[in-house]
Amino acid sequence: MRTQVGIIGAGPAGLMLSHLLHLQGIESIIIESRTREEIEGTIRAGVLEQGTVDLMNATGVGERMMREGHFHHGIELRFNGNGHRINMHELTGGKKVTVYAQHEVIKDLVAARLKAGGEIIFNVGDVSLHDFDTLAPKIRFRKDKNGDLQEINCDYIAGCDGFHGPSRPSIPATIRKEYQKIYSFGWLGILTEAPPSAPELIYSNHERGFALLSTRSPEIQRLYIQVDPKDDIANWSDDRIWWELHERLATKDGWKLIEGPIIQKGIVAMRSFVCDPMQYGRLFLAGDAAHIVPPTGAKGLNLAIADVQVLARGLDAFYKSGKTELLESYSAICLRRVWKAERFSWYMTSMLHRHDDHTPFERGIQLAELDYVTSSRAAATSLAENYVGLPMEWPNASDEGSFTLKRLIS
Ligand code: FAD
Ligand code: DHB
Repeated sequence: MRTQVGIIGAGPAGLMLSHLLHLQGIESIIIESRTREEIEGTIRAGVLEQGTVDLMNATGVGERMMREGHFHHGIELRFNGNGHRINMHELTGGKKVTVYAQHEVIKDLVAARLKAGGEIIFNVGDVSLHDFDTLAPKIRFRKDKNGDLQEINCDYIAGCDGFHGPSRPSIPATIRKEYQKIYSFGWLGILTEAPPSAPELIYSNHERGFALLSTRSPEIQRLYIQVDPKDDIANWSDDRIWWELHERLATKDGWKLIEGPIIQKGIVAMRSFVCDPMQYGRLFLAGDAAHIVPPTGAKGLNLAIADVQVLARGLDAFYKSGKTELLESYSAICLRRVWKAERFSWYMTSMLHRHDDHTPFERGIQLAELDYVTSSRAAATSLAENYVGLPMEWPNASDEGSFTLKRLIS
């Protein structure tokens, strides 16, 4: 098999990259280790930055999101039994918080790729990367997990295979510098069949631990509580989960949490992680393959989408005019944004969770931070501009005009 860009992984990064490349007239093949049903059914992120929403609309995959998504003007921070609204819309000059589930984004992108004749090979096994330090990279894999060995010959490889995929470890360990923080807590997430309890997302700091109320549709809600990441979900009966949610979200003014049957539950661990560089030879890492953020800032999916915008433009410049400057700057451009998202996600996580090792002094500082961010317009503006998403930063390339994608999305 031969293509221009071989993409490993059909998550948000791989699918959006393939979609953007197609709009620029560049061919790609995606290989994915899971089935289409599995990737379209995995429940993960929910919050899209304004830039992600704008990109989906500008590139023709936003129609269902605009119909079925939820558009909020703010979020609520809750602590000491009181709610405090951060008005994102006003503080950011009109930007919104969009709640539209990651697996719906996946469905829309898969449908768009297949409709345009794009190739996604699902359910592959034994994926390995070869010769990406030459002009002729190759990806090898087995169809249907253990079928015959196949080979994709390509100009570039995009490693969009998430944190546990084979792309990042293929970069020699002597080249890679990795930065990591593992948190002592995780999130237990549920989906429940219930009407919304609040019009906007609520992030709650409580002495028993963090809780988050989010939404999915008028009938389905998404909620999270902070738990021990090593805990077994079997220890969490539905009654126990609801009891904790009621405690952690309670307010002094008698706000009511509406319960419903729990239709899905699971526990995820939390880490911050950065790999530098994100590129080696003709292999480019994008999304969770290169960096992980804890979910509190709702940044992971959005960072993945930001990375592939940079990569798509770099590849466009290469295929249109042979210029490689942007591709060579890929890692530097992405990492500036990545580190800012790492900082914001760590900040939100630190401010909102219970830390078992906190002294009374540190708990006092945490409450002062919450008081400050909910009472100072300057502090709230900083939180809001990060939450809705920082603008993309591009180098002052003199040949910007040659980027087809820039014309498409501006
Ligand atoms: P992934 O989504 O992990 O996709 C990688 C793909 O590669 C997968 O489909 C995988 O099957 C495939 N793959 C792996 N190995 C191989 C292989 N060997 N060969 C072929 N394919 C392979 N982010 C937000 O922006 N907003 C949020 O609100 C938010 N909330 C979250 C809540 C939770 C509970 C969790 C767990 C995450 C949340 N995130 C959020 C993070 C977000 O889900 C991820 O950052 C996002 O999925 C990253 O996309 P990706 O395409 O880089 O990687
Ligand atoms: C959701 C996930 C997040 O990580 C977050 O910060 C807000 C909402 C969600 O799944 O809806």
